[in-house]
Amino acid sequence: MDTTLTQSELNEASKTKTNQFYNDVITGLSSSPKRLSSKYFYDAVGDKLFQDLMNSPEYYPTNCELEIFSKKTAEITDAIITDGNPFDLIELGAGDAMKSTYLLKYLLAQKAEFTYLPIDISDNVISYLTITLPVTLPGLKVTGLNGEYFQMLTRAASISSRRKVVLFLGSNIGNMPVNDAIEFCRELRKHLSPGDMVLIGMDLKKNPKTVLAAYNDKEGITKRFNLNLLERINRELDANFDVSKFEHYPTYDPETGACKSYLISTTDQQVNIGDKETITFAKDEYIYMEISQKFTTQQAGQMAASAGFSQIAEFFDSKKWFTDAIWVAV
Ligand code: AVJ
Repeated sequence: MDTTLTQSELNEASKTKTNQFYNDVITGLSSSPKRLSSKYFYDAVGDKLFQDLMNSPEYYPTNCELEIFSKKTAEITDAIITDGNPFDLIELGAGDAMKSTYLLKYLLAQKAEFTYLPIDISDNVISYLTITLPVTLPGLKVTGLNGEYFQMLTRAASISSRRKVVLFLGSNIGNMPVNDAIEFCRELRKHLSPGDMVLIGMDLKKNPKTVLAAYNDKEGITKRFNLNLLERINRELDANFDVSKFEHYPTYDPETGACKSYLISTTDQQVNIGDKETITFAKDEYIYMEISQKFTTQQAGQMAASAGFSQIAEFFDSKKWFTDAIWVAV
């Protein structure tokens, strides 16, 4: 099947994306309280800032998950391969695919028959992966899918009917409040068939200071990561945010496990978005930017069960700060 898009289809797709971005931004900033969706953090600049963040000393989740993948590669991949029949390895929010590369390498070495289908909201990420992965991992079959998770899962299912193994790593699930996360897992289950698998990474509750520091790094990368969304709105939607008039405010509530970040307006101000919309900010008014939910292992197991999965394995780093669980659709 030919899945290549023509130039005019690509132009249409890009227009639809910009409209969607504009509508979401206007809706969010017209709400009370104001909010923006963290899925829009990831343009080319945001991707780069997140990469830098993953290398910062305070941002521990990536290192924990890398430790799990490097020490438990055989166990994890054996569980994924099962009977040895060909499968599709679909990654939701692939990013730079650094973590999955551990698994991909090992799967190739095992001569496992699979296609890797990275899904990402960032077109920058997808074009990068489809070009570089076949070079760094010779023999790897890659089909990149740029778009929203479920739309792209539907597309993946229309391309192939092989068994599916879905990677949802890095605690990306934490970008949703707990109830939405459960709803998300149910929706994910609907896109899968019995026997299909999910390998899901979740950041665990731990010392509150450790969590907060990861979202308040000394170098200020997290701050720039948040402010970049305002700059992206300036770039793509012709707005005039003055980012020097917003402050990064991260919080962590050890009781609920919710780690949230806000941008606070330091002054009364107005911002134009395009030539039709003006947003008014009062001094000290906040924009709710992101949640990075932390879980208990019990919550993780309950989430699997309530969404129609059975958890068959869980892996931890040596500090038990992070977990990767394997769920099978029942
Ligand atoms: C990529 C969503 C897992 O929530 O920890 C890092 C993004 N935000 N620092 C996270 C993020 C601020 C990250 N996820």
